[in-house]
This record gives sequence, structure tokens and C-alpha cells, in this order.
Amino acid sequence: ETVEWEAASYDMGGHDTYMHKEISEQADAVDRVLRGRIDEKFSTVHLGGLNLDAREARGIRRVKILGCGTSYHAGMIGASLIEGLARIPADSEPASEFRYRNPVVDPDTLYIAVSQSGETYDVLAAVQELKRKGARVLGVVNVVGSAIAREADGGVYVHAGPEVCVVSTKCFTNTVVAFALLALHLGRIRDLSVADGKRIIEGLRKLPGQIQEILEGEEDIKKLAAEYADAKSMMFIGRVRGYPVALEASLKLKEISYIHAEAYPASELKHGPLALIEPAMPTVAIVPNDSLLEKNRAAMEEIKARSGKILAVAHQVQEKADHTIIVPKNEDELDPILMGIPLQLLAYHTALALGRDIDKPRNLAKSVTVE
Ligand code: AGP
Repeated sequence: ETVEWEAASYDMGGHDTYMHKEISEQADAVDRVLRGRIDEKFSTVHLGGLNLDAREARGIRRVKILGCGTSYHAGMIGASLIEGLARIPADSEPASEFRYRNPVVDPDTLYIAVSQSGETYDVLAAVQELKRKGARVLGVVNVVGSAIAREADGGVYVHAGPEVCVVSTKCFTNTVVAFALLALHLGRIRDLSVADGKRIIEGLRKLPGQIQEILEGEEDIKKLAAEYADAKSMMFIGRVRGYPVALEASLKLKEISYIHAEAYPASELKHGPLALIEPAMPTVAIVPNDSLLEKNRAAMEEIKARSGKILAVAHQVQEKADHTIIVPKNEDELDPILMGIPLQLLAYHTALALGRDIDKPRNLAKSVTVE
């Protein structure tokens, strides 16, 4: 069945591009990364191949996640999931930056290498350097048996199936879900309660249906893309869990539409970037219904006061925004997974409106196996 799924991944399946196909199959893909891993009895998950027993897991003092591009962004959400659910300090860093800064390698730190292809040279080199210094390294990888998966001490496969389009979509989503599973596993070994374990499991179970619901709103997103396709530059803003979503959405837009885009923590706008805001510089704002909602609304007011156009991704209409894409509410910790999906479609339809080569954008390769 896996072989069929993998073979089907190379068939365009009636879609015009692999990117559209891979965006469209995310509900199925998330089903696969969850399949067989949920343990209802103890409100936790089984992660075969992790190669990290409970006592070792309790001894972890810090988590350092390493990846590049989209995988680095997925790692940022992974860090917030691990810190939030397992209460272990965690952060994500571009692997290329990490390997060149002569890092202090700490035996009580768990290092996690994130990679769709499992062949990205900067990540592989960082893993080899860490292993040379005696560090424990796990892989969160899509391609089974890839170099990074083999080099790591264990890990979690993300089971997104082969991802053909140069830009990553379904694998980003599955990688973040894989991190949610890992965070739940570590949390339930430590202090995460049964009730919180159940809450996250129920949220995970709702993801495929909610993803499908978002994908069914594609026509509205296509219309919005036409509204923003003439932008010379776009700003993406988010706070805390929303910031990696903004980073990933700005990368998607850059990579396939070639429109300059940058992401900023919403709280940082007033420290400079607000000078850029004008009608010709629209802003996409990630505005979840969480404890930061009022802060995010204040950021949109600042932008509106400077006649900046705003497209909000939110759980209900934002009166300060010119347009709102509404996504279904899940658990706060899992909302970033859903909020990124409409922005994959926004980038896709913007690039289509501009006549770009969607599956093979200029200057880019699917896997950067060189330095
Ligand atoms: C994804 O949209 C990009 N094409 C790129 O940033 C990619 O995520 C990066 O090169 C890392 O690739 P990997 O996940 O295969 O390691």
C-alpha cells in the first residue's frame, strides 16, 4: 500500500502541476504520518525507530533543531511544540549557520536534523560534525534510507510520500505533525498530563478533515491571489507560533512567484519595518484566536493607520483587514499547521497569475546536495 502511495506520487493525478497535487493530498499525507502511532491507553504516541528510551528522554536538558529553508521553518514550529508540551528548552537554527560557527556541543542536548530529502549537504555535514563530537542526533526525514536518516542515531519518518515539486508543501505539513508527535511523546514521558495528551491527540485527529475544509476554499484564495499579484513586495507578520508560519509563507511566495517578500515578528514592525508600509506594500497577517489576538489586532491597526493593505489568516473576520481567509480552529499548539495551508495556495495562484514555472522555479533545486 505504501509502494502504491509512493508510485502514485509521481503521477500528476489530473492536476496541472505537482505542487497543486501535493498541496491537495495533504489530508491523506497527514493521515499517514499519524497512522499506527497513537496510543489511546496512555494518551501518547508510539514512535518506532526513535532509539531513545524513557530514561534517556528524561535526561534531555535542551533540544537543538537543525534544517534549511522550509525544513528550518518546520523546525521552528517543532521547537515551540517541544518547549510547549515537553517543557524542554528548544530552538531551531539553519544547519548552515550552525556548522560554521564552531558550536559548543552539549552531551545533554538532543540534536534533531530535519530534511525532506535527507540529502541536504549542509544538514548532513552538521550531523556528521555532531556525531564526531559524540552528540545524540535524531532525524525527522521524509525519504526513507536517505543519508541523513542513516547518519542519525534514530528518528521519525514523516511519510509524506515522494515530493516532486521543488517547493515543499505536503512535507512541511507532515514534518510539523511529526514534531507534534515527538513533542507529545517527550511530554508524556515527563510532565504533560493525560488530559493534555488527550487534547493534543484529539486535535491531531481533526487535522485531516480541517485541512480538507481549507482546501475546499481554494477558489476564494485564487481570487485573492489575483488582487495581490501586482505587489512589488509583500510583508508577512506573525507572533511566536505565528512567526514561523509567516516565514514559510513568505518563502513560498518568493520561490515561485519571484515577488520579494519578507517575514517579521509582528512585535518588531515598530522597530523599523513599519517605514516600508504603504499601499503598494501589502501585509499578510497570521492572526490566530490565541492569547496574542489583541496584540495582533494592534499590529494591524498600526499598518492600517499607514494605509497598508492587509490580508489576514484568522479564525474569524478581522475588521482591520481588507480581506480575511478563515481557517478552522484546532488546539493553539496545532493551529500553525492549518494557518500555513491557505498561504501555500496563495503563493501557488499568485505564481500562476504571473505565468511562472511552478514545479521548477528559476535558480532552485529540489535538494541542495552541494555546499
Ligand atoms: C522548500 O520549499 C525549499 N525548496 C527549500 O528551502 C528546502 O526546504 C531546503 O532546501 C531543504 O531541503 P530538505 O528539506 O530536503 O533538506
